[in-house]
Amino acid sequence: MTDKQVYPVSPAVAERALVNKTQYEEMYRQSVENPDAFWGEHGKRLDWIKPFTKVKNSSYDYNNLSIKWFEDGELNASVNCLDRHLETRGDQTALIFEGDDPSVSRNVSYRELYEETCKFANVLKSQGIKKGDVVTIYMPMIVETAVAMLACARIGAIHSVVFGGFSPEAVAARVVNGKSRFVITADEGLRGGRAIPLKKNVDAALKHEPNAKVEKVIVVSRTGNDQVPWTEGRDLRYEDLMKEASVDCPAEPMNAEDPLFMLYTSGSTGAPKGVLHTTGGYLVYASMTHEYVFDYHDGDVYWCTADFGWVTGHSYILYGPLANGATSLLFEGVPNYPDSSRMGQVVDKHKVNILYTAPTAIRALMAQGESCMDGTTRDSLRLLGSVGEPINPEAWEWYHRVIGNGKCPIVDTWWQTETGGILISPLPGAVDLKPGSATRPFFGVQPALVDNEGNLLEGEAEGNLVILDSWPGQMRTIYGDHDRFVQTYFSTYKGMYFTGDGARRDADGYYWITGRVDDVLNVSGHRLGTAEVESALVAHDKVAEAAVVGYPHEIKGQGIYVYVTLVQGEEPSDELKKELVQWVRKEIGPIASPDVIQWAPGLPKTRSGKIMRRILRKIAANEHDQLGDTSTLADPSVVDELISSREFR
Ligand code: PRX
Repeated sequence: MTDKQVYPVSPAVAERALVNKTQYEEMYRQSVENPDAFWGEHGKRLDWIKPFTKVKNSSYDYNNLSIKWFEDGELNASVNCLDRHLETRGDQTALIFEGDDPSVSRNVSYRELYEETCKFANVLKSQGIKKGDVVTIYMPMIVETAVAMLACARIGAIHSVVFGGFSPEAVAARVVNGKSRFVITADEGLRGGRAIPLKKNVDAALKHEPNAKVEKVIVVSRTGNDQVPWTEGRDLRYEDLMKEASVDCPAEPMNAEDPLFMLYTSGSTGAPKGVLHTTGGYLVYASMTHEYVFDYHDGDVYWCTADFGWVTGHSYILYGPLANGATSLLFEGVPNYPDSSRMGQVVDKHKVNILYTAPTAIRALMAQGESCMDGTTRDSLRLLGSVGEPINPEAWEWYHRVIGNGKCPIVDTWWQTETGGILISPLPGAVDLKPGSATRPFFGVQPALVDNEGNLLEGEAEGNLVILDSWPGQMRTIYGDHDRFVQTYFSTYKGMYFTGDGARRDADGYYWITGRVDDVLNVSGHRLGTAEVESALVAHDKVAEAAVVGYPHEIKGQGIYVYVTLVQGEEPSDELKKELVQWVRKEIGPIASPDVIQWAPGLPKTRSGKIMRRILRKIAANEHDQLGDTSTLADPSVVDELISSREFR
């Protein structure tokens, strides 16, 4: 039994850790018994322009939902990430940029980052961007992306970062939904030696979407490709604008509950939703979790391999680390370029102490064999982190033994775009580790398990993971659709925040996340709605109907399995399969590429016409013997047909 395997806190780790076992238990108790006192104290970790007098004001009552933290305080996130460090650590490196090309890297000090941010904030103001405006950022992993995010924060604009791997269609949908009038992009990105046509994608997005009302597109030069198309009057060069800009830019005082950013994420139904985070609670929570979970000490070099396009990049490359005055490494490339030793090479080159990455990256390296770490020592590493999907114990052990040389604790951090920061994770000096378990809740977080009727389960149990009370980093709404926010998260189990995940709790009170219980897929740590992929497919004129499910995939965690019913008269063919894969890539992006397409003359439906995905999931997973009750199907013979024509992988 893997959960019998325990890695106790080692004396060396305990000695330097911020929190030991007794302190964790005591602080956790205080945090849930008296959240006002606890967070009132820890809220002071930030610099406030106007100190708060109120701390927590929340109700999970479905009819009267309210989530507010530090509501009468005023602050500015960029001041907390930059200005307040200038006196004590102005010359310290804030960001280490490691380029896609291993010969390219540069260190950016807090003072330099502050000056760039102030200049760009003035640029944004001079272009008419004001507090409350939504600015779409579609950028590669470069320093200017951090500058753009912080500059928005400085003037109170709401940034909406769109992952650089999304297609023009996906960019357009997000620009329209956010009513964004401004886009910041780069001529091209660079990943794995290949150029990514970001500006071209923005042009395509804006051209084909009549509802996109974008006035200005600011373009950073990354590759310097002068073939990039240009729309005079709308497109502006970052470098030209920066030449003129002043470094003096007083920060906008923001109420704690003013929006800081929105970020789109997939749900089980409908189009992606703009998760909205506000300023005060988010920053308190991101910075505090960053410090305690990664046991961050002054001088540590910290590397989170995420992308700014995901929440992990927001909270744990940018806001959390910089609010703490940390040195945060920003990586433009991919772990297997120029070869699969890159991760180890980067760790050695910059003497990284803390490495935070995703199980899919670990499994991909694992598949290469241990030789992928040849020529690197990784001696500087002290702590490892995992995020994005459940980590299987084999990958955990490999990460621990091979990458971490058997001496680094692993923090398996469970959280979501919606939660703003880590909710369940070991604290390295306080919690013994079990490979595959995210272990115990962070301060102030009250996880619980419920059955499908919403009854709380006690002790050892498996069920739906809910959170019973608010924490400061929680999302406040879905941009432009507060009803959907209430419905999605608070209507399933009354009085509780529903995570969409299932989990098991063992006899030691440890949580083991088992994965999504809704129609959300987790493909290489990327979150995708089955409904999103289905609606992309049915938009193709040869597709009558499509059903999408996840299936276990050795490297990606989950793969995308698609059942397609063609319109009458269309013939299935391998060419058509390829065409459909390309189509989905174009509609959403490469991360949504179907792994398997199976032609389905019919889909298993109930008599009322609802597709029974449970059955499709079992067929995709090759578990035909566990189909369960099929008697409610309108036409049970459909199932046999699907089983006999199942795709081999
Ligand atoms: O299913 C859980 C999984 O990722 C989902 C959240 O995805 P997203 O909003 O994109 O945020 C990812 C980065 C925080 C969760 O509902 N997940 C995330 N971390 C873990 C995890 N599943 C198991 N263990 C984790 N450590």
